[in-house]
Amino acid sequence: AKVPGLPADLTPRDVRTAGVIGLGVMGRGIVMALASAGVPVIAVGLDQAHLDAATKAIAKMWSSSVAKGSLAQGEMDARMARITGSTDPADLAAADLVIEAVSEDLGVKQTVFATLGQVTKPGTILASNTSFLDIDTLAAASGRAADVCGMHFFNPAHVMRLLENVRAAETAPDVVATIMAFGKRIGKLPVLSGVCDGFIVNRMLSKRSREAFFLVEEGASPAAIDKVVLDYGFPMGPLALGDLAGLDIQAAARKSRAAKASPRELRADFVEQMVAAGRLGQKTGSGWYAYDETRKASPN
Ligand code: 3HC
Repeated sequence: AKVPGLPADLTPRDVRTAGVIGLGVMGRGIVMALASAGVPVIAVGLDQAHLDAATKAIAKMWSSSVAKGSLAQGEMDARMARITGSTDPADLAAADLVIEAVSEDLGVKQTVFATLGQVTKPGTILASNTSFLDIDTLAAASGRAADVCGMHFFNPAHVMRLLENVRAAETAPDVVATIMAFGKRIGKLPVLSGVCDGFIVNRMLSKRSREAFFLVEEGASPAAIDKVVLDYGFPMGPLALGDLAGLDIQAAARKSRAAKASPRELRADFVEQMVAAGRLGQKTGSGWYAYDETRKASPN
């Protein structure tokens, strides 16, 4: 596959088995995306409780698709059979590509990358699903920067087609070629970004969210703002999207940009206030909106 800026004759690395480490909302969605595309996945949770919760949540999501008639039971069974659960990162020795989706905290991710650098085979690609952390720092922690890159999925990762691949300072060209080809193989629309603030998507969307926060300050309701954006053809308004992505993630991203933010941006701290009140969005049932069991939103 031709990737702009790369020699056309690069041979992508062989990816037969993938691994995912960290099984929160994003990790689960990534496991589902891979297994649905026919890729065997080693899914590593932090501990048995996390692994059990993730396995249950994945089965529940596919079961509801089966109940709705959008997925055949046999296909669900085949997907589940492609997932091997584990709580031991050493099991990732069998993977050719590992996607890290642990919590969005540089220290936590550095520790995981140091472990991955030790336990995986030479040549295994180590990709971070980070939204805004510095992949070059993670690359350094792994001890094998040439194999490290970003693969940033979008929530819900088993549904959203966009995949933002990130080329870090020392990422080997054949790693870039591999993740672009692999993205297509799993039915995604891969785009390539460099390491920069917000990559492409969050860089653009953060400006839209910023204006939405200012509008709330100036008296518009969250529902009115979202309705306008929806009417312009976007699948979701900026505030509903914040609830979907997780207000804790948005708050952490805001914190990472605080030094460059204007006083007005810092003052419009709705997201921080909601996080402090335990309102993290869809995952806690409350954010800008209140959510019922079926994710139906009502004003909060
Ligand atoms: N979690 C899991 N699955 C979900 C979901 C959720 N929150 N919301 C929807 N789905 C699933 C449904 O179960 C359904 O699956 P099925 O077809 O197997 O039954 C499928 O998605 C389609 O859902 P709907 O039938 O409700 O269809 P919609 O047309 O309403 O689509 C949507 C829902 C795909 C979420 C759509 O509204 C959309 O594209 N929204 C924009 C999402 C987006 O931009 N995400 C990016 C967030 S930012 C991010 O992740 C980056 C990070 O760095 C912060």
